[in-house]
Amino acid sequence: MGSITLKNVSKTFGEAKVIPSIDLEIHDGEFVVFVGPSGCGKSTLLRLIAGLEDVSAGQILIDGKDVTAAAPAQRGLAMVFQSYALYPHMSVRNNIAFPLKMAKMDKAAIDRKVTDAARILNLTDYLERRPSQLSGGQRQRVAIGRAIVREPSAFLFDEPLSNLDAALRGTMRLEISELHHQLKTTMIYVTHDQIEAMTMADKIVVLNRGNIEQVGSPLELYRSPKNLFVAGFIGSPRMNFIDGAYAQSKNARTAGIRPEHIGLSKDSGLWTGRVTVAEHLGADTFLHLDVEGIGPVTARCDGEFGAHHGDKVYMTPDEAKLHRFDDKGIAIKA
Ligand SMILES: Nc1ncnc2c1ncn2[C@@H]1O[C@H](COP(=O)(O)OP(=O)(O)OP(=O)(O)O)[C@@H](O)[C@H]1O
Ligand SMILES: [Mg+2]
Repeated sequence: MGSITLKNVSKTFGEAKVIPSIDLEIHDGEFVVFVGPSGCGKSTLLRLIAGLEDVSAGQILIDGKDVTAAAPAQRGLAMVFQSYALYPHMSVRNNIAFPLKMAKMDKAAIDRKVTDAARILNLTDYLERRPSQLSGGQRQRVAIGRAIVREPSAFLFDEPLSNLDAALRGTMRLEISELHHQLKTTMIYVTHDQIEAMTMADKIVVLNRGNIEQVGSPLELYRSPKNLFVAGFIGSPRMNFIDGAYAQSKNARTAGIRPEHIGLSKDSGLWTGRVTVAEHLGADTFLHLDVEGIGPVTARCDGEFGAHHGDKVYMTPDEAKLHRFDDKGIAIKA
C-alpha cells in the first residue's frame, strides 16, 4: 500500500516561505509527477514526504497513518536521486544489497532479492562490476535496484535522469514506466522536463513558487489548463499568447493557441506572416513567424512544410482549440 496525503503542509527556511500551504492526495499505485520551474519547491516537497526535511506546519499521512514526526527509515519509502549516490568501492551486487544488509536480513533472502532486482533492471551481467565500470544509465538502474529491494510502499525520484544524454533519457523514461507497470507501486517523480511529465504521469502536479497551480492527468492539463502559467508550461513548443484586438472578446484579455492548432498555407488564411526561423525536423516542421497585427507566433505542422526564412505564409487558427484568459490570467470556460 502507498497512499500519501498532504494536509496544509508548509515549509519555511529562515525568513523564506518556500511552500506556503499544500494539500494533495496521492492514491496507492499512482504515478505522480511534480513538475515546475527551477526553485519552485519540487525537491523540497519530495524531501518533506521522505522525512529528510521537517515540515514547518501541516500533516503528512501514509496509508492514513500520521508520519509527520516519523524518521525517514520508518516511513517505508525509497528515494532515488539524480546523483545516484552509489558506493564506489562496492560491487553492483553489494550496492543493491546494502540496505538489506543494514536491516540484517539473512543472506539467502538478500541474494534472492538482489537476483530478482537485477533481472527486472537488466543488470544480471553487471553484478560483480564497480559503479565506475558502468554507463550513466546502468548506474541509475543500480540506484533504482537498491530502492526496489527494500520493497517500499512508494518510490520517490528526484530528477533521476538529468545527468543522462537525450537518447538515454528517452530509454530510461520507458524503463521506469515499465517498472511502474510491473511493480504497481506508488511513484512520485520530480522533474522540470514537461515531456517526462506528460509521458510518464497518471497525475501531474504543476508547482509554481511553492503553490500547486493545477493537478490533473496529462491530457487534462494539455486540453484545459486553468491559467496562463499551466498553459505556458505544458506543451512543446509552448502555447502562443496573443494580446490586443484579436484576443478581446467577452472578458478575455489574452488568447492562447497551441502551435499544432494553427493551419498553415501558402495560398490563403486568416493571418498573414513572414517566416523568421524555420525548423525542418522531417517528422514535423516548426515555423516561427512574424504575423501582421498579431506579433510573433510559432506554428507546427506534421511532415515537411517547404517554407524558409523570409517567405510569406498564411495561417488559420482552429477556433475550437482557442483558449481565453481573463485579466488575472485565469482560463475562461468556453
Ligand atoms: N536548506 C535550504 N535552506 C534555505 N533555502 C532552501 C533550502 N533548500 C531549498 N531552499 C530554497 O527553496 C526553494 C525551493 O528549492 P527546491 O530545491 O525545492 O527547488 P526545485 O523546484 O527542486 O528546483 P530545481 O528544479 O532547481 O531542482 C529555492 O528557492 C531554494 O533556494
Ligand atoms: Mg530540485
